[in-house]
Amino acid sequence: MVRRGLTSFEEILGSADHVTVVRAPGRVNLIGDHTDYNDGFVLPMTIDRSACVSARARRDEEVVLYSTHFREKIRYPLHDMPISEAGSWTSYVGGVIEELRRAGGITSGVDMIVDGDIPLGAGLSSSAALNVAVAHALDVVFGLELDPIETVRLCRAVEHRYAGLECGIMDPFVSRFGRAGSALLLDCRSFEYEHIPFSPFSDSAAHLSLAIVDSRVTRELATSRYGVRHAECLQAAAAVREAHPSVESLRDVTPEMLSACRSDMDDRLYRRARHVLDENARVLNAADALRDGAFDRFGALMNGSHASLRDLFEVSCPELDTLVSAAQRTEGVLGARMTGGGFGGCTVNLVRTPAVGEFEATLRKAYLTAHGRSPRLYVVSRNDRTETLIDGRD
Ligand code: GLA
Repeated sequence: MVRRGLTSFEEILGSADHVTVVRAPGRVNLIGDHTDYNDGFVLPMTIDRSACVSARARRDEEVVLYSTHFREKIRYPLHDMPISEAGSWTSYVGGVIEELRRAGGITSGVDMIVDGDIPLGAGLSSSAALNVAVAHALDVVFGLELDPIETVRLCRAVEHRYAGLECGIMDPFVSRFGRAGSALLLDCRSFEYEHIPFSPFSDSAAHLSLAIVDSRVTRELATSRYGVRHAECLQAAAAVREAHPSVESLRDVTPEMLSACRSDMDDRLYRRARHVLDENARVLNAADALRDGAFDRFGALMNGSHASLRDLFEVSCPELDTLVSAAQRTEGVLGARMTGGGFGGCTVNLVRTPAVGEFEATLRKAYLTAHGRSPRLYVVSRNDRTETLIDGRD
């Protein structure tokens, strides 16, 4: 990808002198979904697919952006970002540039090429990785010395303002802070985090593999449904707050408090809250299981998470359920669940390495029979981190 970035720079922007190249990885969430925007816990890890950004400051005040994926180029004055379609690649890239310009520090125009190999719209955080990569590239090119936590907040703000998705902090956080050979336990309230060693790759001593299965269900309406769930969580917290004024979010609600409020609460809100409380507990138990190397226990928690997302939080779909139940019935699969926002996207599976072939064959067959199509399977080979691959100032 580095070579591709430099070649594209030469072809599209004349020369590749003094170009900075960075990458930021996508992620898969191992456990802890729909907890981040409730100030809860998550346990994601980065994957071996990244957004890659090549950039160089210009002498004038023009911004020139090119996407190798969309083969589109746009050009605009730094102080006059055009309005682009919410959630388009230009809205993300332009959004990060605009936010950093407003914060000060970006003093001239920039040439930038964005590239990457994270499947788009599959729920592997291609947009968060793109935002983090753009911010990191600008940090290097303009010597901004950005605080990494502030960078993550800015990337989330771009998702809110320029893509209209009221997402939580998980995706940009893990893309920016994730580290090779580990999962990231994150407290989304305090932003305290811990790297927990975990290498479910082909050379792993535990002979485990992490398989991501893309249902290829397009996540139309996913943004609006995500917003509905977010609002329901706020309403559930407000309902408990009537009896417990100190409750700020579902993070502050204990199982006892929730049970006591149940009869006064809409059952739908109760189920949403129940999922969030249980899921937070599962994340902490899963982190313990990883520390203990208790992978069977970890897998059982993944299975429990899927059932809760399906039945209580209602963000799964028939295709994801087919993939998960076929996986759970396969010998050698320790755990399987949908991952990310839901309503389509991917499942994540912890599989004993010798069983991966059988796992793939079983899933293909089950999916074809039930839904008449094939899923796409990725076995994660390593997990990457956000890094500078070439510093153009050298
Ligand atoms: C999406 C959002 C995240 C998180 C997950 C669900 O990926 O971007 O912030 O809320 O859904 O866990």
